[in-house]
Amino acid sequence: MDNASWLARWQDGRIGFHQPEGHPALAAYWDWLDPNSHEHVLTPLCGKARDMATLADRGHAVHGIELSEHAAQAFFEESDVSPAIFETADGKCYQGEWASGGSVSIVVADFFKRAGISGSGCELFFDRAALIALPASLRERYVERLIEDLAENARGLLITIDYPAGQMTGPPFSVTENDVHALYGQAFTITKLSARDALADNDPIQSSGMSRLVENTFLMQRRL
Ligand SMILES: C[S@@+](CC[C@H](N)C(=O)[O-])C[C@H]1O[C@@H](n2cnc3c(N)ncnc32)[C@H](O)[C@@H]1O
Repeated sequence: MDNASWLARWQDGRIGFHQPEGHPALAAYWDWLDPNSHEHVLTPLCGKARDMATLADRGHAVHGIELSEHAAQAFFEESDVSPAIFETADGKCYQGEWASGGSVSIVVADFFKRAGISGSGCELFFDRAALIALPASLRERYVERLIEDLAENARGLLITIDYPAGQMTGPPFSVTENDVHALYGQAFTITKLSARDALADNDPIQSSGMSRLVENTFLMQRRL
């Protein structure tokens, strides 16, 4: 799916991927990363995910990157936070402060084309529906770019969807456990934390005729 199609989805409100309550893996597993509230969190392809507000509530400075300005505006409206809006070398930035001392800044930019200033050096990351939003041809570039942005001791949560080839037209695209190891294995140690049967859970992502749909959550620790 190209950039124009993502922007059209936001424009038309076709955002079935958005989880108004945030993703349960954040509450379940964030502490497994041994996070310090002073550490910065990168949320690539962030949409208007509530997870960013949860992380800011925990005191983190959260750095989102998102194509759609509509998403950035909606995030702050729904958070009831009035953002400062300014231009950066990466693109327009919406930044708001949280009572906890945390903050969220969302840079409106193409993840692959920005200068790379915002969010650089983040110690933590949260990838929910970012890697799986991209076709296979873009995934290596995505991972290279993500690694460039992260600190040496970086760790994060990666949430993927795995289903048999051909049973759904992405996004979300199927990313297998083997794919995760092939993409990240050199730079990260990878621990699978959970495998949720999304068919049994009647997950809205499923389309008719699917025989398997598993949502995997991985703990990622950058190798020193
Ligand atoms: C499946 S959604 C997931 C959003 C969010 N992570 C969540 O959990 O709700 C993928 C998001 O990536 C954005 N996106 C797609 N390609 C992008 C790119 N090249 N650069 C920045 N954002 C992009 C889309 O606009 C969309 O909001």
